[in-house]
Formats: sequence, structure tokens, C-alpha cells
Amino acid sequence: MTTFAPRVEAISISGIREVFEAAGSDAINLGLGQPDFPTPDHVRTAACAAIERGDVDAYTSNKGMPSLRDAIAGAYDRWYGLEVDPGDVIATSGGSEALHITLQAHVAPGQEVIIPDPGFVSYDALTRLADGVPIPVGLRDDLTLDPTSVEAAITDDTAAFVVNSPANPTGAVQSEADMRAFARIADEYDILCLSDEVYEHCIFEGGHYSPRRFADSDNVVVISACSKTYSMTGWRLGWVTASNRRIERMLRVHQYGQACASAPAQYAAEAALTGPQDRVEEMVTAFERRRNVLLDGLADAGLDTPIPKGAFYAMPSVPDGWVDEVLDRGVIVVPGEAFGERGYGVARLSYAIDIESLKEAIAIMRAATRAVR
Ligand SMILES: Cc1ncc(COP(=O)(O)O)c(C=O)c1O
Repeated sequence: MTTFAPRVEAISISGIREVFEAAGSDAINLGLGQPDFPTPDHVRTAACAAIERGDVDAYTSNKGMPSLRDAIAGAYDRWYGLEVDPGDVIATSGGSEALHITLQAHVAPGQEVIIPDPGFVSYDALTRLADGVPIPVGLRDDLTLDPTSVEAAITDDTAAFVVNSPANPTGAVQSEADMRAFARIADEYDILCLSDEVYEHCIFEGGHYSPRRFADSDNVVVISACSKTYSMTGWRLGWVTASNRRIERMLRVHQYGQACASAPAQYAAEAALTGPQDRVEEMVTAFERRRNVLLDGLADAGLDTPIPKGAFYAMPSVPDGWVDEVLDRGVIVVPGEAFGERGYGVARLSYAIDIESLKEAIAIMRAATRAVR
């Protein structure tokens, strides 16, 4: 008789999908986790040209094309003055695969991974798929992760902790001081800091400070992707960068599970990283404007919302029954509990949607709030 592996029975399909399925087809969707902009034209063109030339018909090197890895290393230098060896980069199938191979390579069965709660759904599931044990820790009132809470959760069994800034589902951005503290924790306790930086360029206030910049050891692994920055979620192109010994371990998982990232997507990513960046700025400006409209609307409705400083999500506290009421009235939002136990009483609203629809959704949410209060 066939059976299923306990590691796969320990996880289920994300609660976000269930919300989408419950909603009508004409609902206004504030549930989306991807930018509502097209991929920049020059990126599409570069991929098409590579296809036409016949350059994408074969496997690339397992780590990804050298020219793409040069482009990734060059981008870190330009963005942050951070030195990254192109040999210490693996191009992956989105940030998702980068998270997966990081955890597969670093978590032994039964080891613990400290994750933010509420936090991105994959951290819990990918930890379980690595036969690890997720240890969710709560957030501060402003929805950032407190380094002190991470420190308090460390045990002899801790393998890693996850930092995600800007964050999904909260939009919270960690301060430089926090990032320095995370780097210190990784150094001092000799545990891995997995820094998920896929929203690194979508910041409205303050800057992005990778803990990698502050660590003395090689205990920080950074993952990022083209997905959110260049509106390329469908292309499936991300990367992981870390010290060589870590990259060589992760490469084993990547080589057998994936071989290499999709070649057309690699060409597209290279063009995105080396080409004009004005579309990124346009997107971030549009998100900031929408964020302000949404925050005003939520305040008018009497919903308390920590100010999100990045990504494209807001996370208001909501009364009992609010999510169902809003869904019944035709607006899709994701209940906070889809992101962890401590997500009860909050909801994730994505503003990756045009401003007119957002205003319509705000009016509906205001009426729904009156109805359930
Ligand atoms: C915090 C976070 N990390 C990683 C990912 C995965 O991104 P990708 O689409 O590049 O796999 C997402 C996607 O929503 C995300 O929100």
C-alpha cells in the first residue's frame, strides 16, 4: 500500500487560495501578492531575442548563466556597495526555490526555525518540508520583528531564523539597528539568518539594510528575486547568495531538484538588472500613493493600521466577522490567521490594484465595518 510522507501530510494548501475560491468572479481583489504592472518592455524584448537566437534551448550552468550572476553581483555593488562573488550566487526558480534550497541545506530533522508570526506562508511549510520545526514568534505593535523576541526563542535546537524586510503580510520595514542586531545574533549564537529581501526595492520610508552587511561570520544567507521589483512573478527568477561553502551545499539541492533556472527567464532577469530602472521607481511611487489613500480610508472607517513602510500590503486590526462581511460584499482580503496563529483579529490588504478599484473597495470596507461593529 502506498502512503504519503509525514512531511507532506504536515502541510496544506495556503489559506489564501481558499479565500480566492470563496469570492465571486467580479470581486475587487485586495488579496493579490504581485504587482499589477506589466514586466518592462526591454525585459520582454531581451527574452524574446534570446529565444529567437536559439540561446535558450539548452541547460545553462547549474548556478545560472555567468552573465546573469555577474549582473546580480553588479547590482549588489551598485545598490549597497556590497561585495558579492558571482560564483557565490545561484539563480533559482523565483525566491520560493531560493527559500526551499536554503532550508533544505541548513535544517536537520527536528531542528527549529524561528519565523515571524504573522509571516509569509512559505516559511512554516518549507521548514516542515525540511523535517524541521517552525517556531513562530510574535511581532511588535508596529508589526516589525523584535530581535529580542528572536533571541528569546533560541534553543540548542535552533538552526535558523527568518528575517523578512519589507515584509509580507505586514508591509513592515526593519530599522538598521534591528538588522545590525539580527547580524549580531547570527554571529553570536552561530545560527543561520535567512534574510528574505524580495521586496527590498519597494520601500517608502527609510532604507533597506541587509543583515549581510553587518555580520562578521558567513551566517547570513540572502534571497531575493526579480518577481516583485520588476513585476516578473510569472517569469520565476530569483537567487540566493551566501558564502561559498553554503552555496555549494544549496547547489546540491538545486542541481537535483531544478537543474537550472529557466533560460529565457535568466536572460530577462539580466536585462532587468542591467537595464533602465525607471519603471521600478514608477511602481514604488504608485504604491506609495495607493498606500496613503488606503491608510486614509482605513482611518476613516475607524480601523487601526500600523503604517506600512514598504511592500504593498497593509494589516489593519479588524472586528470579529469583518473578513466574511467584506467578502460577502465583494472585496477579497486575506484573514490574518492565514499567516500564523497570531494573525487572528487582523487582515492583509494588498494595494497592488488600480486606485479607482481601491477607492471602491475602501467604500465597501467602510460600510462593512459599520455593519459588524
Ligand atoms: C516574503 C516573500 N518571500 C518570497 C516570495 C516568493 O517570491 P517568488 O515569486 O519570487 O517565488 C514571496 C512571494 O509572494 C514573498 O511574499
